Amino acid sequence: MHTLSISMLPIPLLDWYRDNARDLPWRREVTAYRVWVSEIMLQQTRVAAVLGYFARFMEAFPTVADLAAAPEEQLMKLWQGLGYYSRARNLQKAAKQIMTQFGGVFPTDYQDIRSLAGVGDYTAAAIASIAYGQPLPAVDGNLLRVTARVLGDETDITTGKGKKHFTELLQAVMPLEQPGRFNQAMMDLGATVCLPNGAPLCGRCPARAFCIAHQEGRTGTLPVKPGKKPRRIEMRKVYFFTNQGRIALRQRPEKGLLAGLWEYPNALEEAGDPLPTWGLAGIEPVFAGTGKHIFTHVEWHMTALRCALPEDALPAGWVWADKTARQSRYAIPSAFASFQDLVEEVGG
Ligand code: ADE
Repeated sequence: MHTLSISMLPIPLLDWYRDNARDLPWRREVTAYRVWVSEIMLQQTRVAAVLGYFARFMEAFPTVADLAAAPEEQLMKLWQGLGYYSRARNLQKAAKQIMTQFGGVFPTDYQDIRSLAGVGDYTAAAIASIAYGQPLPAVDGNLLRVTARVLGDETDITTGKGKKHFTELLQAVMPLEQPGRFNQAMMDLGATVCLPNGAPLCGRCPARAFCIAHQEGRTGTLPVKPGKKPRRIEMRKVYFFTNQGRIALRQRPEKGLLAGLWEYPNALEEAGDPLPTWGLAGIEPVFAGTGKHIFTHVEWHMTALRCALPEDALPAGWVWADKTARQSRYAIPSAFASFQDLVEEVGG
């Protein structure tokens, strides 16, 4: 296979980046702490969605020590709506590691960075290259897509072997000067020009003169990602139990999807009527709308039901939350955002 085309990429790419780099807060003031937090937030999440969270997070926790000492409730509340909540817990776990194992100073060695909770190969390379100038490719979906297309390379990007293959190719062409700029230029190219889902803007691409996928009309079939499983669909009933402008919430289990967050009580349709198991047999909730939320591996198709309850009717551990408590105390995931109007109607 010819790997020449990828070796042609760095110079035009860095020229393009000089004129087209996105102006982002973690690029204006570059510290390992800021790069780390931004990279964790940006996992599976778009830049536009991250900006406000990043600003509030840095305001609340300006240093690793502040993050390590943060109350969990405050941390989860700051993360509310960003999704993949284990990221926030791992950030704090890693901050504590930095305090105890690295004397409160963000580590500079790649293996040390890689040893932090929640930090994988991609994130460690992003921090090492962007904050410390170490020439390591930060291989995420963007870099894989750009590289597979420029090379016309049909290697499956979803396997460890495929990632290793592309990582080695990129390592070989990585500029020793400004490796952080190279990685971020690749990320920006992937996010704004070499778009996924077969609709890239090749007319604006600095690689168009030598990109094999472009020349051969194969951007629609590259990168190759076979065997991506379809999402499981779950039909759920979501209950809005009310009492004097308050709505019942319960906390999710410590492990699994949306671990530890607060939610409107809900149950799988196929599991039958949950009311008796909640000590609420005999009440008659009424239909109040439908909603949907898409997670990585599952979709919730929800039917909302509402019913007023006496104050003392809730099972142990559930709480009545008024508007203030819902907004400032309990972290409620955006999976329930479809019901915002309903919540405002029944809950003040
Ligand atoms: N996506 C992930 N990391 C990024 C970064 N540093 N800049 C822009 N987009 C990104």
